[in-house]
Amino acid sequence: MEWLSQEMDYSLPQELDFALEGKNATAARKYFGENTNFPLIIPKVMSAMRRILVMDLVSGARIDNLEYLDSHQISRDEVSATLARIFNTMIFASGAPLHCDPHGGNIAIRHNPNRRQPYNFDLILYDHGLYRMPEDKVRRDYAKLWLAVIDADEPAMRKYAYEVAGISDEHFPLFASAITGRDYRVLLRNEITTSERDSKEREDINSVFGEDFVEQIVKMLGDVPRIILLILKTNDLTRSLDESLQTRLGPIRNFLILAKFASRTVWEEKKEQIRRHGHLFSPGNWVRLFEAWFSFARVEAKLFVYERYLSVRRHLHLD
Ligand SMILES: Nc1ncnc2c1ncn2[C@@H]1O[C@H](COP(=O)(O)OP(=O)(O)OP(=O)(O)O)[C@@H](O)[C@H]1O
Ligand SMILES: [Mg+2]
Repeated sequence: MEWLSQEMDYSLPQELDFALEGKNATAARKYFGENTNFPLIIPKVMSAMRRILVMDLVSGARIDNLEYLDSHQISRDEVSATLARIFNTMIFASGAPLHCDPHGGNIAIRHNPNRRQPYNFDLILYDHGLYRMPEDKVRRDYAKLWLAVIDADEPAMRKYAYEVAGISDEHFPLFASAITGRDYRVLLRNEITTSERDSKEREDINSVFGEDFVEQIVKMLGDVPRIILLILKTNDLTRSLDESLQTRLGPIRNFLILAKFASRTVWEEKKEQIRRHGHLFSPGNWVRLFEAWFSFARVEAKLFVYERYLSVRRHLHLD
């Protein structure tokens, strides 16, 4: 467990420095204000010293307070999709700051009657003590890893597990289970987007890796770069929050949202590469450009159709 204490040695002093927390909060507020139109509120910082932080008071209910959500007719599915959009932006978008501690106590929901249903809420993000700024290469490799998972493409999964986190073939099944929370055989059968984890699958995971499951994970994570650990932690916390929201739609929509962010990240990279080979629209680049665009547009279109379908269902009161 030594790596864990090394990581804490590095991040704890940062988390305890409120001047830094103030800077993080201000930077995140600026980024999301300028680049997105999510219903996200990051309280405004008025003054930040090492030991004293003064900011706007913006209160809400915990994101997993289902009673609050239900009694204000706030859609759990929309809360879940908003959470996914915010954190996928943080993980994948170039230049976005990554909040590394999104546990239930740091995210609140506030009823906002000024917005029409099902968007009648704000999501408030607290606690900006621990932030990272992943490099573009990390974001891009991580995007390719997820696209491989979503396509059930095992060779690509292994390749990018190695690129992203230095995971060898021997540790791959364990890593795949650790990042998805699923039995990796489910991943290879291409069922991750259509099925939900049940208690049998949990048992399967435990039985495959045996009694020292946790020990193996701790050992494997010891060799993973820290930035990846923090991305995985963020990924894991948001997934568990999402589970606690008990959405009716299950995991499909959030996988489509993840896929959209991941494929957009890859599309941005391809555009950049093609530009380096000459002008973006020079004849030799058209085919490459079209291929890159098509794989992105395919996911985007799927998500668009799915979200329209949900909206039609809602209007027809089928839910
Ligand atoms: N600007 C704010 N307006 C209203 N409530 C706030 C604000 N900032 C923090 N809170 C409340 O105080 C709680 C603790 O704040 P914060 O998470 O920043 O402290 P912390 O000590 O880092 O917590 P932990 O380490 O347990 O996550 C939050 O969960 C939230 O409920
Ligand atoms: Mg907190």
